[in-house]
Amino acid sequence: MPAASHLMNTYGRLPFALSHGRGCRVWDTSGREYLDALAGIAVNTLGHGHPKLVPALQEQVAKLIHCSNYYQMPLQEQLAAALCEVSGLSSAFFCNSGLEANEGALKIARKFGHDRGIERPEIIVYEKAFHGRSLATLSATGSRKVQAGFEPLVQGFVRVPLNDLEAVRQVAANNRNVSAVLIEPIQGEGGINVSRMEYLRGLKQICDEKGWLFISDEVQCGLGRTGKWFVYQHAGFLPDVVALAKGLASGVPVGACVVGGRARGVFKPGNHGSTFGGNPLAMTAVVTTIDTVREEGLLANSARVGEMMMSSLKSQIGSAVVEVRGMGLMIGVELKEPCGELVKQALDAGLVINVTADNVVRLLPPLVMSEAEGRQVIARLVPLVKAFLDKRAAA
Ligand SMILES: Cc1ncc(COP(=O)(O)O)c(C=O)c1O
Repeated sequence: MPAASHLMNTYGRLPFALSHGRGCRVWDTSGREYLDALAGIAVNTLGHGHPKLVPALQEQVAKLIHCSNYYQMPLQEQLAAALCEVSGLSSAFFCNSGLEANEGALKIARKFGHDRGIERPEIIVYEKAFHGRSLATLSATGSRKVQAGFEPLVQGFVRVPLNDLEAVRQVAANNRNVSAVLIEPIQGEGGINVSRMEYLRGLKQICDEKGWLFISDEVQCGLGRTGKWFVYQHAGFLPDVVALAKGLASGVPVGACVVGGRARGVFKPGNHGSTFGGNPLAMTAVVTTIDTVREEGLLANSARVGEMMMSSLKSQIGSAVVEVRGMGLMIGVELKEPCGELVKQALDAGLVINVTADNVVRLLPPLVMSEAEGRQVIARLVPLVKAFLDKRAAA
C-alpha cells in the first residue's frame, strides 16, 4: 500500500509518475514509454529534453538564476522586444503563471476604467471560460465547480455566452460601467470551444466603438499552437491585452501580460509587481522557445500536423461522436457521455491525453510533433473511443 501522502489533496492523481522525456515521448518510473499528446496541458511547446533548450538553461543556471526587478535586466528587454514583435503589441509585464497574467490584465481593465471616470468598472466574461484559480480569476471563470465554496466572489463581472454578439450588444446598450472584455478565444478547460472569427471581429468592433479594452486570454491557445502565434491573428486584428503562460517557456514557469492599443501606459510605477517575474532563467527559456519555434517552422508544423490529426479523427470517428473540433494542435473530441475513463485506458495503450468538461477528449501535443507521431496518436486513440462507444451502445 502506498504511504499516506502529505500533499494537500487538490488533485485526483493517476497512479503514474513520469521519469523523463525526449521529443514527444515520455517514460514512466517503471521504464514504460508513452506518446505525449498533452504536453503537460499545453506547456511543453518544444517537447521534452529539446537539444537547444537544455544547454541554454544549463548555461543560464550556472550564470544567474534570479535577480531583482529593481535592476536592469537585458534578457527581459530582449524578450519583451521579441514578444512585441510576434504579438504586434508594445510592452510586456512578466509573471509566473496564467492566473497571474490574467490578474494583471484584470487590474489593467479596472485601472483603465477608473482612469476614464468609471467608479465601479465591470468586465465582460464568458460562460465556460477558465482564467485561473486566484479569487479574481476564478470569479471571472465561467464554472460553478471552480467557484463553489469560495464565495464571496470578486464583483464586477458580466457574463455572456460565447459566439453570441447580440448578448454583448445588449450589455453595451444597458451597462455604462463596462471597461473591458476578457475572452479565451478557444476555451480549453471548457471543452475546446472555438470562437468564430467573425464573432471575434464583431466583438473587437464593439470594443472600438465603446472604447473598451479587448483582452485575449491565450494562456492555453496562444504561442503557436493554432498555427499562428496568437488566435487573434487568425481574425486579423490586434487586442489591447494578451495574457500568456503555459507554452511560453516550454515548461519553465512563466507568464506574461502584453499590452498595446488602449492599454498602453495604464500601469505606472508601483501599480504592479512580482518578485520572481521575469527572472533570467525563465527569460532564457522563453527566448529559446520563441527562437526555436521560428527556426524549426513550428507554426506551420502545428497547422499541418493538427489539420492531419483533425481530419483523420473526423473521417474515422466523426460520425459517431458529437463533434471533432479545434484549431492546429488544439483538438477536442466531444462525446455524448462523460468519458474520463479514457485517460487511464489511453495510458494503458501508451498514450498521454486528457478529458476536460467531463466529455471532451483533449489533445494538446508538443508543437514539435511530427506527422508520423500524429498518426500514431490517432492510431492509439481511435480504437479506444470506438470501444468506449460500443460499450455504451451495448449497455
Ligand atoms: C485559458 C487559461 N487561462 C488561465 C489559466 C491559468 O493558468 P495557471 O494554471 O498557470 O495559473 C489556464 C490554465 O489552465 C488556462 O487554460
